[in-house]
Amino acid sequence: METTDNHIVPSHVSIIMDGNGRWAKMRNQERWVGHAEGVNRVRDVLKTAAGAGVKYLSLYAFSEENWKRSEAEVEALMSLMMKSMLGEIDNLDKEGVRFVVLGNRARLNDSLNRTIDACMARTAGNTVITLIIFLSYSGKWDILQAVQRIAAEAADHSGVAESIDMDTISSHLVTSGYPDPDLIIRTSGETRISNYLLWQAAYSEFYFTDTLWPDFGEKEFLEALDNFSKRDRRYGKTK
Ligand code: IPE
Ligand code: IPE
Ligand code: MG
Repeated sequence: METTDNHIVPSHVSIIMDGNGRWAKMRNQERWVGHAEGVNRVRDVLKTAAGAGVKYLSLYAFSEENWKRSEAEVEALMSLMMKSMLGEIDNLDKEGVRFVVLGNRARLNDSLNRTIDACMARTAGNTVITLIIFLSYSGKWDILQAVQRIAAEAADHSGVAESIDMDTISSHLVTSGYPDPDLIIRTSGETRISNYLLWQAAYSEFYFTDTLWPDFGEKEFLEALDNFSKRDRRYGKTK
C-alpha cells in the first residue's frame, strides 16, 4: 500500500470482469465480440493500475461454472486467451509485468497449458506489477484442493491434523504467496461474488459499477481507486 497525492492506493486490485455478452448484444453482435473488446480493456486497466502504483492486478477471466456455457463460447474464450497471451507477452515482459495464471489447470488443453507455463517462466523475475489471471477458477474449488493437499500431507504424520491453522489453509490455496485483494471491483451491475475468492475476500473492499466490462477504461478504474481511498478499513476493531 503506498500513498500518492494523499490517496491510499490498494496494493492488490481484483476485478470480476462481467458484461461482455450484454455489451455485444446491445450492438447486435455475437458474444465473442464482447469478449474480444474486453481484452482491450485488460490492456488499458493494466497500464493504469501499474501507473497508479498498484502492485497486483488480478482478473476473474473464466470460472469453473463457465465450463457450462456452449461449446462454441468456451472454445472462443480459450482461443482468445491463447491469442492474447501470444500477442501480448513481448510487451508485458518489456513493461516489467509478472504474468501468472491460477486455477484448475487440469481442465485446460495441453497447448494452452504449455503456453501459460512459458509466459509465466519468461516473466517470473519482473517486478513492476503482477498480473494474475484466474482461469478455470472457483473459490470452492480452491478451498477443496487445499483441503485435499493438507489431508494428503497429514495422512502419514500423527499430530499434523491438530496443527492445522488459518495459515495452513492460506498457504495451500492457489493464491499462496500473493496478498489478499484490498479492493474487488465487479462490473455490469451484478452484486454477487459468483464463487470467486471466497477465503481471500474475507476483508476486501467491494466496488460495484453498472458499467459493462468492455466500457470500463482508465477513467472508470481511477474512479474505483478514488472511491477506495475514502474507505475506512476497521478489520473488526473500533476506530
Ligand atoms: C464476462 O462476461 C466474461 C466471462 C464470464 C467469461 P459475460 O460473458 O458473463 O457477459 P454477460 O454477463 O453475459 O453480459
Ligand atoms: C463471473 O461472471 C465469472 C467471470 C467474470 C469470469 P459470470 O457472468 O459467469 O457470473 P454469473 O453467472 O452472472 O454469476
Ligand atoms: Mg456475466
